[in-house]
Amino acid sequence: MKNYFSKTLKTSFDDAVNCVTKALKAEGFGILTETDVQATLKKKLNVDFQPYLILGACKLKTLTSRTLFMLLFLAPVLVFGHAEHQEQSPSPNIENHHGSSEKTSDAHEKKKDQQESPGQDKTEKQVEHKHDHGAHGLKGEAGYKKFIKWIGNFHPIFNHFPIALIVMTGLSELLFLWFPSPVFSNASRFMIIAAAITAMPAALFGLAYGYEANYTGQLSSVFWWHRFTGISTAILAVTSAVLKELHVRKRVNKIGYYYTALIISILFVTITGYLGGEMTFGLFHMFP
Ligand code: HEM
Repeated sequence: MKNYFSKTLKTSFDDAVNCVTKALKAEGFGILTETDVQATLKKKLNVDFQPYLILGACKLKTLTSRTLFMLLFLAPVLVFGHAEHQEQSPSPNIENHHGSSEKTSDAHEKKKDQQESPGQDKTEKQVEHKHDHGAHGLKGEAGYKKFIKWIGNFHPIFNHFPIALIVMTGLSELLFLWFPSPVFSNASRFMIIAAAITAMPAALFGLAYGYEANYTGQLSSVFWWHRFTGISTAILAVTSAVLKELHVRKRVNKIGYYYTALIISILFVTITGYLGGEMTFGLFHMFP
């Protein structure tokens, strides 16, 4: 079994380093150490060597929250240049990373592999799994495509609003049932309206984020379900807000319609968030 992976990028050395660092960062990996082999060899032995960088990638949060023993899980990432690519400088096309690999087609095999060589394989999965949401590969693209991809970058910011607001509305309604104070009813009213207002752009930004995304294997169905539950969440949040408002204004007496819509919204937003996490952090990310 190969205990490393490699990928050739037809780009300049600096672009490749940039690209790898960004991809690692997007997955929560920080660069703890950086060894410039080319410079070191030149300095110590006066030898001319190809551009060669060793990056010590590590989940920094894990490091700080556990002990320095975790240093053992430092994942080395080697970036080196081939002579024939030194002259080229277009941006690397990492857009189709999802497309090529076997990585997600057998998630359990992957899990097993990770246990065998945790640091290295994790890096493989994380770097390969990521696809470009707009930061790379924009050069030479039509203006409207650039805009769609750029606007999609707001998805990771906005999606947290409906998640928190819908769930908190549920909690507030529960509190209202136990302690029937108008504070909780008013809080629910405010939060469900805010959830409806933020869920719509969250879903629209999501569509832009997923624009031209190329997921394969299991991730393609995760993507499909995330899109479906995401759009449904936005519709359900608006429906819940309207039903709540109709009830408060006494146009609809039955509270049951609103409660039903709210419970389904909570279910959908939870599933949507989880599936989004699967796409970003990898399959079974909640079950390490
Ligand atoms: C209210 C609806 C939605 C919610 C709450 C939501 C939530 C999430 C969450 C929690 C993530 C994980 C990434 C992060 O937060 O940083 C995510 C990622 C993502 N979502 Fe959504 N989402 C919604 C709608 C949509 C829709 C309609 C689409 C359309 C396709 C979509 C496409 C994506 C994509 C492409 C990713 C990135 C996956 C990756 O990193 O490869 N989302 N979403």
